[in-house]
This record gives sequence, structure tokens and C-alpha cells, in this order.
Amino acid sequence: MKQIAYGMVGGGPGAFIGDVHRKAIRMDGLAVLKAGSFSRDAAKSKAHGKTLGVSEDRLYDDYREMARKEGSREDGIKFVVVVTPNSTHFEVCKAFLEQGIHVVCDKPLTWKIEESEELQRLAEKKNLLFAVTYTYTGYPAVKQMRKMVRDGLLGKIRFVNAEYPQDWLANPVDESSPIAPWRMDPEVSGISNCLGDIGSHIENLVSTVTGLKIKRVCARLDSLVEGRTLDDNATVLVEYEGGAKGMYWSSQVAFGYDNALRIRVFGEKGGLEWAQEDPDHFIFTPSDAPKQVFSRGRDPFAEEAQRYSRIPSGHPEGVYEAFANIYLPFVTALAKHLRGEKLEASDLDFPSVDQGLDGVRFINRCVQSSKQGALWVEM
Ligand SMILES: NC(=O)c1ccc[n+]([C@@H]2O[C@H](COP(=O)([O-])OP(=O)(O)OC[C@H]3O[C@@H](n4cnc5c(N)ncnc54)[C@H](O)[C@@H]3O)[C@@H](O)[C@H]2O)c1
Repeated sequence: MKQIAYGMVGGGPGAFIGDVHRKAIRMDGLAVLKAGSFSRDAAKSKAHGKTLGVSEDRLYDDYREMARKEGSREDGIKFVVVVTPNSTHFEVCKAFLEQGIHVVCDKPLTWKIEESEELQRLAEKKNLLFAVTYTYTGYPAVKQMRKMVRDGLLGKIRFVNAEYPQDWLANPVDESSPIAPWRMDPEVSGISNCLGDIGSHIENLVSTVTGLKIKRVCARLDSLVEGRTLDDNATVLVEYEGGAKGMYWSSQVAFGYDNALRIRVFGEKGGLEWAQEDPDHFIFTPSDAPKQVFSRGRDPFAEEAQRYSRIPSGHPEGVYEAFANIYLPFVTALAKHLRGEKLEASDLDFPSVDQGLDGVRFINRCVQSSKQGALWVEM
């Protein structure tokens, strides 16, 4: 397969996630970085782009120029990766969609529900692929759990308990850190910090594994460290269509925890448990047998999960592979699309703009609930 040209907006010097995306894309070699606007500061962006091997004529002053010029080049980029802070996602994604360029954007997709709806409509109208990088859906164990739920091994789901505690904002913010201050700033982060940044991962992970649709939420968002405008701790009760119930907790003030995303799903016939910090394993407890620990690469996974396992068991896989496992189906589907072939549902095994919109709706409804004193709010 010929390598597909892509561009990046964000991911400049010292940035966190842009570099992870670039390395993950390189893992399968299906796409190659050809253009960029890596920083608001054009000089910094150009200097950084050179270190990444992007030719000078494709290092742009800003993303608008990049979208316009790449959209009109014969050999222009086929997709853009948007890894800027939240406040810019909408305008950046829109600029590239309008030029007929496919999009991968990091979460949360936008601040406002209407903005995500507009991106969804635009992508559909222009027949463009749009992925939202909910990292944790890329793990083979997550895909295997999804398959087991779909196959009915848990029976009807009764309850979901999921949490994402961290402690990196448990103390007042270190202003010298480039990634912390903007997350605490409503002008850049949006209507929520903690829930938007990590609670949105919970929402997407639960929906991916269980297929459950949220009916209503009852949320309490707290700023537990003095002086903060936005939340650093969020507790959410959830009711799903069909009657199942759930409880989500995300926190950035939980001393002792790094990225302790954990999900537990309980059905009538059994339970599942998975923790992000030990991503190769999960526990399945059937109602009529002892606990079983499933291990990626050693125990039989269904083809739809096994295909994402990259090395034999006992060699831990992690976040880079999880990101690569979003790009692998995305770029493969894009290549098929560019060849004019019809895409099947199985080709679209990556979180899309639809899941991005679900996440934004979830954040907005939780904020609304919390502002009303933790009243139940319909999705
Ligand atoms: N999927 C995940 O697990 C995950 C993890 C971390 C961050 N994120 C998301 O990724 C996004 C970026 O987060 P981060 O931690 O990398 O932020 P960051 O502050 O480390 O990096 C942002 C980069 O974007 C650049 N930038 C800002 N505005 C720009 C513009 N208009 N044009 C070009 N470049 C611009 C900045 O100069 C910087 O290089 C956020 O939306 C965040 O929520 C997702």
C-alpha cells in the first residue's frame, strides 16, 4: 500500500500528545507526515517541522493557510491530525473538512454540542472519515471484552462501575508545566477540566465495551483545590437505556494514582474487570465458575481483538500501541475509501465523530446537572 500523506496541527516543541500520535502512526508505516502547523508561533512551528523532516514549503504560518494550500495541492495531505488544546478543535477541524481533507482529532471533540453536530454533518456531507482518538479503545483486551459482551457472556448488564483517578493536579498548578495551566483555564479547556479531560475517556470506554446508551446523568463536579474555576473531581451516577445503572468517578486530586482508569461491568451471567495500567490482562468471572484472568497474546482472543495484538504475551504493550490500533483501521479504511471501494462496518473499527459527539453531550449534560445541584438530566 502506498503511504498516505498526513499533516498535523499542534504537537509543537514540548507538547504532550502530538508526539505520541506521530510515533504511533510510524508504527505501521501506512502514513507519512508531510505538512504541519505545530504551534501558534510560526517560527517555532517551522523550526520544529524541520526536525521532523517536513519540507519547508509545507510548514505553514497557521492552520488556515495549511488547510487552504494542502487542499489545493495535487499531492496534498489526505488527512490531518488535530492535537491542539480543546478550544481550537472546532475551527481547525472545520477548516480541513471544508477543504475535503479527512480528520483525526483528539478528545474532547469540541466544547459545545452544536459544534460537534456541525462537524458530524460536514463530514457526512463531504463523505469524509473522521476519527476521535479515545486512546483506550485501541487495546486488544478492550476489544475482546467488547466481543464477550456482544456474544452475551455477561447476559443483560446490571451495573457498571468505572473510575479514572490521577493526582497530578492534587497540588496547586506548577505554572512552568506547559500542559497544566490551559487545562485549568475555561477559555482554553472549556466548560470542564477533569470530567472533560479524563471523565470523557470513562464515558467512551464504557460505551465501547458494553454498547450501553446513556439515558440520563446525575453529576457533581467539584473544584477541591482552592482557587480553581474548573472541576478537578467529578462523580456521576448514570442510568442507561434498558435499565442498567452506573457510577463514574474521575479525579485529578487522588494522591497515589497516576492513570488508574478501571472499568467493572456486572451482568446477570458474569462480570468483567480491566485496568488501564495493566492493559494486557482482564478478569472474567462467570456466574458458575471461578475467576479467569485473560492474557493478551497467550489466551484465545477473537479475531477482531487478536488482530491488534502486536507481540507475544509477556512483552507488555501500552499507550503507543493503543494509539497505533486506532490509526491502523483508520488509515486502512481511508486507503480503501480513496480507491473508491465501499467501506463495511468492520472497516470502521475506530472511534468516530459520532462517539466524539456522544462524549461532548455527556460532558455538557453532567455540567448542567452539577450546576442544578446534582439533578437528573436527560441526555
Ligand atoms: N487521547 C488522549 O489520551 C489524550 C492525552 C493527552 C491529551 N489529549 C488531548 O490532546 C489535545 C492536546 O493536548 P496536549 O496535552 O498535547 O496539549 P499541549 O499543550 O501539550 O500541546 C498543544 C500543542 O498545540 C499547539 N497549538 C496550540 N494552538 C495552536 C494552533 N492554533 N495552531 C497550531 N498549533 C497550536 C501548542 O503550541 C502545543 O504545541 C487536547 O485536546 C487534549 O485533551 C488527549
